[in-house]
Formats: sequence, C-alpha cells, structure tokens
Amino acid sequence: MNNTYIPQFTEEEMKTVNLHISKYPKPMAAVMPLLWMIQEKYGWISLEAMKYVGDILNLPHDHVLGVATFYTMYFKKPYGKNHLQVCTNVSCMLRGGYEIFNHISGKLGIKNKEVTGDGLFSIEEVECLGSCATAPMLQLNNKEFYENLTIDNVDQLIDSLKNSK
Ligand code: FES
Repeated sequence: MNNTYIPQFTEEEMKTVNLHISKYPKPMAAVMPLLWMIQEKYGWISLEAMKYVGDILNLPHDHVLGVATFYTMYFKKPYGKNHLQVCTNVSCMLRGGYEIFNHISGKLGIKNKEVTGDGLFSIEEVECLGSCATAPMLQLNNKEFYENLTIDNVDQLIDSLKNSK
C-alpha cells in the first residue's frame, strides 16, 4: 500500500470516470464510484485524492470529505494488508462484538485504526454491516464476511491470514 501518492487517473481510467459521471443526472452522484476507484488504485483515500475527486466533479472539497468520512468502506489512512472491521453495533454488541474486538486488539497489540508493525493487520470498530442475524461478525478488506464469530474461530482466522502472507 502506498503511504503517500499523487492522485492521478490514467487516460484509460478517465474513460471509466466519465462513464460513471454519465450515469447520473448530476456529476455529484458520481462521487462514490470515483472514491472507490481511488481506493482500488492506491489502497486508501488521502486528503489530496479527495480534493482531486472534487476537482474532477467540480464539487466543494468539503462535500467529498464528508462522503469519504461518513462511510467506513472508504479508508482514510493506509491500513494493513488484512484490515479487520469488527462490528460492535447493537446485535453484534449483544452477542459479544466487543469481546471479539478486544481479543483481536490484544492479540495483535493494536488499538482501533492502528496497524501492526509488520503491516500485516489493522483493526477498526465499525457500525452495522447488515449481517445482524449472524452476529457477531467482522469484514476483511471490505470484501469477505466472517460471521458467528467466537474467540476460537477468530484465532483460527488470524492464524490462517498470518500463514498466507
Ligand atoms: S449489528 Fe453487527 S452486523 Fe448488524
């Protein structure tokens, strides 16, 4: 993951940008897919990148910042290779979400939004991810859900991620 970068879409990527813009009546609506493109390209979304997206869409930078900060799927800092987002919202909290979060935090020696020294893991406490019926749960790298978590299966997950580095 790049710790610093100069945000710049290629000519090819600009075609996708324009495609997104063309889908909506107002360019403002394309802010989310463009932020997502930045994250896919650089791994996270810097303040400079938010401004860059704002300039493309002719939007106030504060508007882009507001969108990027509202959604936890947008990473506002470089995270670890395995970013673990642990839900502690009501259903998960009632079924041990904080125990899971605290266990991972203690096992890896990192607090909320911190990254391990080897860059392999980071952890983040998040709001409901829509998997309440299988609480407690976590999401790995914005893609994979791990549900009905227990201390044991969380340990197994972390060990398998360590072994797959
Ligand atoms: S409360 Fe955790 S997924 Fe809904």
